[in-house]
Amino acid sequence: MKKILIAPSILSADFSNLAKDIKIIEDAGADWIHIDVMDGHFVPNITIGPAVVKSVRKTTKLFFDAHLMIKEPEKYWEEFQKAGADLITFHSEISADKAQLAKNIKESGIKAGISIKPKTPVSEIEALLPFLDLVLIMTVEPGFGGQAFMSDMLPKISELRKIIDDKKYDCMIEVDGGINAETGAQCVQAGADVLVSGNYIFSSANPKNAVCSLSGKKE
Ligand code: DX5
Ligand code: ZN
Repeated sequence: MKKILIAPSILSADFSNLAKDIKIIEDAGADWIHIDVMDGHFVPNITIGPAVVKSVRKTTKLFFDAHLMIKEPEKYWEEFQKAGADLITFHSEISADKAQLAKNIKESGIKAGISIKPKTPVSEIEALLPFLDLVLIMTVEPGFGGQAFMSDMLPKISELRKIIDDKKYDCMIEVDGGINAETGAQCVQAGADVLVSGNYIFSSANPKNAVCSLSGKKE
């Protein structure tokens, strides 16, 4: 059985105590830290910048998964790479040259991913798959944590799984938005490799149990 990676989103963590919250999820067995970067243009919310990434980089060795929900990732991705991101995911709905952007990110020595919003079909990114390490399928409209999972995204996960398997691309599938034990299991069933989860983990009375429930482990 393949290992499913769990990537807690620190968007739902306590921003005055990030190091403490990261330690809790690290001890709980989280694999990655998902960092939601929003610019108030691509999405109607503003969150974390490179300075915060640089600070939290000192507190953990976990893999940093930076999800750039910004209009011009081609201008800013390098700052996040320098701040310690291990993977930079930009959105398919931007106007820059996406193959070139993925290439530049990978040439800097880290991984490159692309994300598709709920209304964007898999066909939009199919030609880019050879250049990518990961595709992030949004299972809510990006912008805010704590929204309800859109189950009509499940066929999109299966469709992408089939393409990746048929063509033998070396590309992971990540899902993000409304993931809990139940919706996470549905996504894994459909073919997801990485589960992002914010509100479910950080609003839980026992974040450790929440992380374990996502990876199918009993605490
Ligand atoms: C939404 C973000 C998500 C979000 C996930 O735009 O990309 O990563 O924080 O949070 P939950 O799990 O609360 O939906
Ligand atoms: Zn995200």
